[in-house]
Amino acid sequence: MSVESCKEFLHATETRADLAQQLKATTGIREVIALAGRHGFAFGPEDLLKGSASYTPTRAPKPEPPAPSESSGFYHHEFELSELPGFEVVAEELDQLKVQPPSVDLARFDEDFREEDLRSTSMSPAAPEFRDWYEQMMRTHWRNPVRPDAPRRDFHLVNLDEHIDHPGYPRYFEAKSRVIGALEELFGSDVRFSGSMWYPPSSYRLWHTNETQPGWRMYVVDLDEPFDDPAHTSFFRYMNPDTEEIVTLRERPRIVRFFKVEQEADKLFWHCIVNPTKRHRWSFGFAVPENWAERIERVR
Ligand SMILES: [Fe+2]
Repeated sequence: MSVESCKEFLHATETRADLAQQLKATTGIREVIALAGRHGFAFGPEDLLKGSASYTPTRAPKPEPPAPSESSGFYHHEFELSELPGFEVVAEELDQLKVQPPSVDLARFDEDFREEDLRSTSMSPAAPEFRDWYEQMMRTHWRNPVRPDAPRRDFHLVNLDEHIDHPGYPRYFEAKSRVIGALEELFGSDVRFSGSMWYPPSSYRLWHTNETQPGWRMYVVDLDEPFDDPAHTSFFRYMNPDTEEIVTLRERPRIVRFFKVEQEADKLFWHCIVNPTKRHRWSFGFAVPENWAERIERVR
């Protein structure tokens, strides 16, 4: 276990195409350490922090990202997975990605459901009562004061990439790597996984802005089965930063959604995700380049 081994791993991710691609399929410290371990590099979380802080990449730094574009007044784009050219591999691999790690205890998960938190997704982030509630939650760091060891209340969902020890993980990770390979063909080398989430029945991600990670996001969303009632589905909800209008995007199997996360105070993209149904929902998030739409058009 060493910082040196971590730096050797970081260097290897620059010189080896296979590792570079697999690194883009990871989204958290645990996955990075596990990936390195499978390739003979042994280090722990502390080493990773120190190693990445002191490592100097040998490649030339990336060019500055383009200046932020003017607001188009349109904040989301949604497609059927089957209608997007270049997404054939994503469609093929989706069933391998939709795992339910046995390390997740769904009975315990259900105990952390809070009606009050679910109700907050019906408020507008612009409403004074929401602001009061939000500030109060921030003060308690989104913890339940009565059960401080319980998970954060704003993420009532399962981050699949935190479950790396179950027997299905290697297959799942290989599928993620193949998906990155296919999406690189379409979007170029800047595409990477940003988060792989399982939303079991009655789950939610409360209102947030992701303002610390600006840029375009793409989410591939799927379900275990279609919804019976089109009025009772999982949904993605956001507030239009220009008009404060609340937009609710009802979901169905196999859709691909794009939206842009902004950092400036007057453009913050408030959004939440809710699965108030008995279905299981998965969403696979990616950071995609600014010109994603052009890239899709080019192969159409
Ligand atoms: Fe988000």
